[in-house]
Formats: sequence, structure tokens, C-alpha cells
Amino acid sequence: MFSSLGLVALTLASAVLADDLAFSVSTADFKARFVQSGIVPEVIAALDPSVSFYASYRAADGHSELLVPGSSLTVAEAGGAPLEFSVENLSNATSVNSQTRFLIYLLDADAPDRSAPNARNLRHFLAGNYTLSSAMSAVLPTAQRLTVTQQTFFPFTPFTAPNPAPNTGVHRFIYALYTQPPNFNTVGFQSVGMELQTANWNLSRWRTQLGLGPAIGATFFSIDTGANGGQGVSANGSTFVGGGAGAGAGTGVPAAPGAAAPGVAASLSMAGLAGLAATLGVMAMF
Ligand SMILES: *[C@@H]1O[C@H](CO)[C@@H](O)[C@H](O)[C@H]1NC(C)=O
Ligand SMILES: *[C@@H]1O[C@H](CO)[C@@H](O)[C@H](O)[C@H]1NC(C)=O
Ligand SMILES: *[C@@H]1O[C@H](CO)[C@@H](O)[C@H](O)[C@H]1NC(C)=O
Ligand SMILES: *[C@@H]1O[C@H](CO)[C@@H](O)[C@H](O)[C@H]1NC(C)=O
Ligand SMILES: *[C@@H]1O[C@H](CO)[C@@H](O)[C@H](O)[C@H]1NC(C)=O
Repeated sequence: MFSSLGLVALTLASAVLADDLAFSVSTADFKARFVQSGIVPEVIAALDPSVSFYASYRAADGHSELLVPGSSLTVAEAGGAPLEFSVENLSNATSVNSQTRFLIYLLDADAPDRSAPNARNLRHFLAGNYTLSSAMSAVLPTAQRLTVTQQTFFPFTPFTAPNPAPNTGVHRFIYALYTQPPNFNTVGFQSVGMELQTANWNLSRWRTQLGLGPAIGATFFSIDTGANGGQGVSANGSTFVGGGAGAGAGTGVPAAPGAAAPGVAASLSMAGLAGLAATLGVMAMF
């Protein structure tokens, strides 16, 4: 069940696992993990999330798992479209109401190669028109789902399965959530000149182009392709520790409503990890 977790996380998990439920991650912990992974400031200059933003995916054992910042996935696990997106504490974000729409992207910050990311950032998914659903996440019962209808789902970049080449190091894949400027409720991103090219996606230029504020939430996972930086070590030598997982299911991209297959899986408690980390002298960011 923990085949995709990092060694340190695996060791800690056996100590903190109390049951099969997924646990919330505080927004502050999301922020800390982006710094710990080196994504901030190497890929994104700054990240100040106001919500806890989650994706879920199908794990190798068939269970639906919660993606928490730092989860380590296999290529196969990352290959399916996310099952569900959800948020906690959305009311903490400014200028958000029940009519607000959201856009979500997924990118590879380390394409094609961690030590020479010449294609940074490589976009794997971009779609708008997500809204807050009254339905709760099947993965994390305290989180509310973000859903999009068939009538409004026009992905600018349809989901493309991450498939980094072997021996290109530990790739960091980032999901981010933004409030959508209202003009895009009726037109696509091409209306402001956004180009279809997915490689060398310049986020700061893109934000200006679309008139976006900063991301209100973000999460990430890694795929370790081996060599080139090696497992557990980021490109600049800082320690990288994998994250945990969760339980349940749902649909992030519109399939049949309610088509979610329930699943049961395990997760790590960030609070538990933090306590143990302090005790063991690892994961100092917590
Ligand atoms: C949302 O804001 C409240 C009040 O500032 C804070 O207590 C809470 O921890 C925030 N939520 C998260 C997930 O950080
Ligand atoms: C290396 O990563 C750490 C975070 O782990 C970050 O604080 C530091 O700025 C990074 N250094 C470079 C040169 O990117
Ligand atoms: C944040 O979300 C958690 C989980 O749903 C909830 O328990 C808590 O009351 C929320 N806090 C605020 C300030 O909304
Ligand atoms: C949102 O949905 C409308 C259709 O209701 C569509 O015209 C528009 O392009 C969509 N916007 C985005 C960003 O997908
Ligand atoms: C991204 O775009 C910004 C603003 O146009 C520019 O200043 C910056 O140099 C660009 N970054 C890269 C890596 O091209």
C-alpha cells in the first residue's frame, strides 16, 4: 500500500497510522512543503495559499488516494486523470462567493530532465469553469468538491499523462488553483492570445495575460525516474521527503455524476508527522 511513499515517510507512517481515513493538511503546511521541496523559489517565486487544495488519484493498489503536497507517485499512478479536486477553507480566500469559477492546471517543473529542465514548465492540464460543489469529497469528508459540468468543460490543455523519461531524476508535478476572472465564464483562454504550446510555459507572463491574481491553492507530487539527482535529493541538494495518501473517490473532470467508486486507503497525518519529525530531527520545515 505504501509502495509509492518515500523511505522516511514510510518509516514514520507505520508509527502514526491510526486508521484508514485521510487527514486534512493545514494551509500553512501546504506552504511549508512548497519551500521544503525547493519549488519555492526555484519554480514559483512565492506561494501564499489561502485554501487547502487537494487532488485524488488511483493508487497502484486500486484505492483512491488523497494527494497531499509531496506525495510520490509512480508513472502508472499519475497516468489517470485526477479522480477529484477538492478544497477546505475556501471561505479563507478573498473575493470568492458561490458564483466564483476556478481554473486548475497541472505542470511538470522538471521537464525533460531534473538537472536540465529546458522545457520548464511543461503543461499537462489546464481547464477553467470549476465551481464549488455542495458535495463533499469522497476522499476527505471535510473537503468540498470542485466540479465542472459537461456544458462548461472546455479544457484548454486536455489532461496528458505524465510520462517522464527514465533516469531524468525526481520530477515535481504541480497542481494550482486560481479564481477565474469572470470574462472567462463565456470565452476561452485563447481569447486573450494564450497559445496551445505546452512546453516552456511562462507562468508570470501567463498570469499577466489572463489577469490572474496569485494562486489560492496548490499541491504537488513527485515521480522518481531514477538517477540524475537521485532519490530523496532535490536538484540543489536539499532533502526531499515524500508525502502521504488518503481514501475515497470522486470525479475531478466530469464523468457521470456520482460515478465515484469508493475506496479505502491509508494516509499520513501531517500533524503526526510534524511531531515525529521534531522528535527525530528530520523535516525541519515542519
Ligand atoms: C482559515 O482561516 C482561519 C482564520 O484565520 C484559520 O484559523 C484557519 O486555520 C484557516 N484555515 C486553514 C486551512 O489554514
Ligand atoms: C534550494 O532549496 C531550498 C529549499 O529546500 C531553497 O531555500 C533554496 O533557495 C534553494 N536554492 C537554490 C539555489 O535554488
Ligand atoms: C477549515 O476547514 C476545516 C475542515 O473542514 C474546518 O474544520 C474548519 O472549521 C475550517 N475553518 C474555517 C476558519 O473555516
Ligand atoms: C466556460 O464555459 C463557457 C460555456 O458556458 C465557455 O464558453 C467558456 O469558454 C468556458 N471558459 C473556460 C475558461 O473554459
Ligand atoms: C517570463 O515572463 C516574464 C514577464 O514577461 C519575463 O520577465 C521572464 O523573463 C520570463 N521568464 C522566462 C524564463 O522566459
